[in-house]
Amino acid sequence: MTDRELYLKAKEALANAYAPYSGFSVGAACEADSGEVYTGVNIENASYPAGICAERCAMSKAVSEGVRSFKRIAIASSGGEAWPCGICRQFMNEFTDSPEDLIVITGADEDHLEMMSLAELLPKGFRL
Ligand code: THU
Repeated sequence: MTDRELYLKAKEALANAYAPYSGFSVGAACEADSGEVYTGVNIENASYPAGICAERCAMSKAVSEGVRSFKRIAIASSGGEAWPCGICRQFMNEFTDSPEDLIVITGADEDHLEMMSLAELLPKGFRL
């Protein structure tokens, strides 16, 4: 699957975002080492901190199916490019042995994609 196709999966997932409080919808599509793709959306809550970001939603779906390592994650939002928040960066750090090889893709649209590795986005991420 190309970067563009992965981004389009994230964009497609956007339709199921549940964001009645912020009005900011996010969709994510992560690719496991196996090549399998899992999508997720942000899911907000009346008790605001109980909400979850699209990236952790997508990765949690995969991890709950047995995935333990990812190659790429694409993120689309109703507001254009959306880089992952700090909590999601640390969450991603748990599920790769080489953060320089986990690629985060986002962009204003599928014709303007930007890519950065997790190592660039989260230098010296915490590990036990
Ligand atoms: N959000 C994500 O889903 N991913 C991010 O990386 C940043 C923020 C969501 C959380 C909340 O539902 C909305 O965007 C506005 O912050």
